[in-house]
Amino acid sequence: MKRRTVSILGATGSVGKSTLDLVERSPERFEVVALTAATNVASLADAARRTSARLAVIDDAALLPELEERLAGSGCRGVTGRTALIEAAAGEAEWVMAAIVGCAGLEPVMAAVEAGRTVALANKEALVTAGALMIDSARRSGATILPVDSEHNAIFQCLAGSSLDDVSRLILTASGGPFRTLGRSEMARMTPAEAVAHPTWSMGAKISVDSATLMNKGLELIEAHYLFGLPSERIEVLIHPQSIIHSMVEYVDGSVLAQLGSPDMRIPIASALAWPDRMATPADKLDFARIGRLDFEIADTERFPALRLAREALEAGGAAAVVLNAANEVAVGAFLEGRIAFLNIAELVEDALARTDASAPHSIADVVDIDSETRDRVREMMRVPTT
Ligand SMILES: NC(=O)c1ccc[n+]([C@@H]2O[C@H](COP(=O)([O-])OP(=O)(O)OC[C@H]3O[C@@H](n4cnc5c(N)ncnc54)[C@H](OP(=O)(O)O)[C@@H]3O)[C@@H](O)[C@H]2O)c1
Repeated sequence: MKRRTVSILGATGSVGKSTLDLVERSPERFEVVALTAATNVASLADAARRTSARLAVIDDAALLPELEERLAGSGCRGVTGRTALIEAAAGEAEWVMAAIVGCAGLEPVMAAVEAGRTVALANKEALVTAGALMIDSARRSGATILPVDSEHNAIFQCLAGSSLDDVSRLILTASGGPFRTLGRSEMARMTPAEAVAHPTWSMGAKISVDSATLMNKGLELIEAHYLFGLPSERIEVLIHPQSIIHSMVEYVDGSVLAQLGSPDMRIPIASALAWPDRMATPADKLDFARIGRLDFEIADTERFPALRLAREALEAGGAAAVVLNAANEVAVGAFLEGRIAFLNIAELVEDALARTDASAPHSIADVVDIDSETRDRVREMMRVPTT
């Protein structure tokens, strides 16, 4: 069997490492072309050596000499810069994992889509900020976008090629995050360490904070809209603390299809990696008798305003999703650095949305401009003391 050529953007992160784990377990099925990272040079060089990758891209140019030194004699080329990142995304690999965190991943994802690759999309911020442009581009280039977010991967599996006319609604499940049962006054005191301690999933810091505010589910709502082409009112969010059902599709006849599995990202990643086939993973199998019960709750947008803001941004259209995402990225960064309190995150996003006069982006350059203007505005807003 011919090996599938793969590149992993964000190879040193949580999703990137899980992807490497699967690829390295099946060397007979996968051949690694390129790996990328921002600053984690040791982990990047190590993975490049282990997988015999041909190209390793480090975003921080100051780290290139160290990367080259670590790769000496391996046959892998160490490079840096935007052009190199685009080369990794749109180069020889037929399958590209997009696992850079944040809007920083947008241009490489678009390059892979424009080049007609099969793009396994974990980088939800890219789709949230440029969804319409990306889906249009994929139509033109023939690229396939395979959702890696566990919820969207679940929906993709439950749709299994059905007509969207037969779907009445999508039900996105959410664990509720580490603060699911807390009141606002308790949330106000929560630290970064408490926010990243997710009850069911092990993930990178930014998405873990997004899960604590429920912004993650808001971003996923927008992501689902672009991936599956359904309007906001046909996409529901349901709290399901056990993270066993990863999402559901309700059909017009009343049938509901759900995808279940243990909360291990290697399951949705494997589904995209082997697609349209399947591959084995080391993820735990479900033991239903031990699980015993599955619980569900309504998502509370009073306690978790970020989810309301994301739905409003989706319904407003135009530049709102770009502003929402940029403001959130800056606010989450500031929270992780201990500069603002947990509740300030959604407050800053709401203020940024209220103050924007940006018009709808018509190109990726427009998205990048709105993203950058919003970041500057939110940084300026943070200079004014917050409560
Ligand atoms: N983690 C999960 O379980 C999960 C589940 C569903 C969806 N996702 C989505 O997948 C994406 C990745 O999440 P993650 O949790 O894997 O994040 P993460 O652990 O923080 O890893 C992020 C990766 O992106 C690289 N990176 C960060 N900033 C960059 C920049 N400016 N330019 C180039 N590369 C950059 C990092 O390199 P360094 O290591 O060198 O910093 C790292 O390889 C996010 O969009 C997230 O929402 C994650």
